[in-house]
Amino acid sequence: MRPEVESVLITADDIAARVKELGEEISRDFRGAELLVVGILKGSVVFVADLIRHLKLPIHLDFVAVSSYGTSTTSSGVVRFLKDLDESIEGRNVLVVDDIIDTGLTLRYLLDNLSRRQPAVLKLCVLLDKPSRRKTEVPVDYRGFTIPDAFVAGYGLDCGGWYRNLPDIWVVKTATAVRA
Ligand code: IMP
Repeated sequence: MRPEVESVLITADDIAARVKELGEEISRDFRGAELLVVGILKGSVVFVADLIRHLKLPIHLDFVAVSSYGTSTTSSGVVRFLKDLDESIEGRNVLVVDDIIDTGLTLRYLLDNLSRRQPAVLKLCVLLDKPSRRKTEVPVDYRGFTIPDAFVAGYGLDCGGWYRNLPDIWVVKTATAVRA
């Protein structure tokens, strides 16, 4: 059954303004350098697509797919690579971009894995941060919004595969977003 959304948490206009700011900040920090942007499929695709158009830098774009959720809504801590990078990151400036950091278990695993490949710089950018749910420490270099402990969907984020296409970020009705 498709879960229901109940209210808008962050509007498309607010997202657009913040994504522009993040792009400007990243452009300043990496001025004069090249950047490899690594999006995490599938949740980050809308965010990455908007963010890279605010980067005034020469960039490459790559994607990884990892699984820790299936279609339920809590992290198992068990992370699998479904798709690895196409490009080597050794000696390169890498910016990992994700939609949301929740427990942090997925990103902890991914960042540990990527750092063993010896990038020159490895930074993390997330659109949303739910700090109250963190189970492991993960340094976030660029953060769009800090949000409360609610399950959200829209702007690339899904609930059971639904709602990635919504332009705003919505809170999902808890009774319909069953936490495993
Ligand atoms: P973590 O390992 O618990 O930090 O989970 C990270 C992943 O869980 C994200 O990349 C999302 O795919 C998913 N996730 C966590 N919270 C939400 C949410 O509120 N809405 C949609 N997906 C979420």
